[in-house]
Amino acid sequence: MSQQHFWNEKFSRQGYLYGKKPNAFIESCSHLFNREKAFLCLGEGEGRNAIFFAKKGFDVMALDASDIALKKLQEFASFESVQVKTKCIDLNEWEPIKKYGSIVASYLHMHKCDRDGLFSKIEDALEKSGYFIGEFFSTKQLNYSSGGPKDIDLLYTVEDFLNRFSNCKKHVVEEILTHLDEGRGHQGKASVIRVVLQKN
Ligand SMILES: C[S@@+](CC[C@H](N)C(=O)[O-])C[C@H]1O[C@@H](n2cnc3c(N)ncnc32)[C@H](O)[C@@H]1O
Repeated sequence: MSQQHFWNEKFSRQGYLYGKKPNAFIESCSHLFNREKAFLCLGEGEGRNAIFFAKKGFDVMALDASDIALKKLQEFASFESVQVKTKCIDLNEWEPIKKYGSIVASYLHMHKCDRDGLFSKIEDALEKSGYFIGEFFSTKQLNYSSGGPKDIDLLYTVEDFLNRFSNCKKHVVEEILTHLDEGRGHQGKASVIRVVLQKN
């Protein structure tokens, strides 16, 4: 099943699967982002991060494989009277042309074989001194029922980030236990990896 088919099925249900509030970790890093520079959300789904930053005055672009999620994102953006550019694309096919001052991703889970490709494109797409910030489930999340894939090939270790992004300063790459309260999709105790990377 393609990513689009899989995620379209999930996002077809009424309501916002991961809620409408931004991811709390990404929100806590807001002070690092430069409003003068373009802002990119990867695997953005129904738009909770994109709309939060658009409301703060950032020029936001959101990419996702699910056209249904992006339609809901645009409805959410209209309701909030903000503009967010969107593109429906499988990130394995993404060819970044533009540079971004900030790139964020929450719970974007790529297969192991696709990580070299995507992570090097993220690094290339960052402007000098720009930040890539994200939160993802770790392989230990298999022990919890608060959400996320049940396939270990889609879960991350800190080494996935430490061993890549050679052109970035790794300010934070940590695996922690946290409590998620993100819509009906992510609820409860969870093992996550948080990253704050800055392009040299
Ligand atoms: C768990 S959801 C998280 C959505 C959003 N980031 C959030 O936290 O609310 C994962 C998202 O990644 C997207 N996604 C997964 N694999 C993708 C791929 N290869 N290309 C583009 N989007 C992808 C899905 O369509 C989905 O919207």
